[in-house]
Amino acid sequence: MDLTGKIALVTGGGRRVGRAIVGELGRAGMHVIVHCHASRAEAEAVAAGLPHATVAQADLRDRAQCRALIEGVRRDAGRLDLLVNNAAGYRRAPFADEDESAWDDLLALNLVAPALLTRHALPLGLSSVVNVLDVGAWQPWRHHAAYASSKAGLAQLTRNLALELAPSVRVNGVAPGTVAFPPDFTAAERAAITGRIPLGRIGDPADVARAVRFLAGEDFLTGVILPVDGGAQLR
Ligand SMILES: NC(=O)c1ccc[n+]([C@@H]2O[C@H](COP(=O)([O-])OP(=O)(O)OC[C@H]3O[C@@H](n4cnc5c(N)ncnc54)[C@H](OP(=O)(O)O)[C@@H]3O)[C@@H](O)[C@H]2O)c1
Repeated sequence: MDLTGKIALVTGGGRRVGRAIVGELGRAGMHVIVHCHASRAEAEAVAAGLPHATVAQADLRDRAQCRALIEGVRRDAGRLDLLVNNAAGYRRAPFADEDESAWDDLLALNLVAPALLTRHALPLGLSSVVNVLDVGAWQPWRHHAAYASSKAGLAQLTRNLALELAPSVRVNGVAPGTVAFPPDFTAAERAAITGRIPLGRIGDPADVARAVRFLAGEDFLTGVILPVDGGAQLR
């Protein structure tokens, strides 16, 4: 499918994986709306590097701001073809020590916001959604109960909406393994994670971006969750 001239909204598009997705879709000829929360300057810089890109800001833990973000897209672009739910919170903490509010924050941002953004975008002619999950949606890891549960919920949301919104909206997902380490991971932790990946290295945000573009462009795919993980989910 030719993506040229279509409108995409990428949440969390200012940095790391989201930034790579914005670039990939922009190079495919899409008009990209780069959503950000705290990284406004980074989002402006990404948008400035593309021929057709604009920036929109929202705290997606807040339901009213989810609605306002899509309302802004309607006002400025008039329609939305592709929604990429990339923004997410990440937490690593022992279950017994986890702050109760972390559950609210992670579920609001990682699961409820993608559902609300999809719902609000339906009247704008939405035809494709790509959710960014994590192999942790299936693989249990110590100290990731809230984060992994939010991604498991997003996996099930992806498949439910693929069924319910067909044939007008295709809903797919990408499940990355490690493609960019959280900055606080030690060298020893990085080496241990890399050592468990069958292909022997971590991926790159560009690997995820190409998978998003593939799912956005293939019009007979829906309900697919594509691992992009160097084989990590095989262990
Ligand atoms: N990095 C990896 O190796 C990896 C592995 C598996 C899955 N993933 C998934 O891939 C996606 C991107 O990962 P990443 O490593 O690039 O994530 P990241 O560096 O932690 O960035 C998270 C993004 O979410 C946005 N965000 C954070 N809080 C927000 C809020 N309250 N409201 C709206 N947006 C908010 C941030 O926007 P601002 O900076 O503008 O605040 C940022 O763009 C996530 O869904 C993640 O779970 C990543």
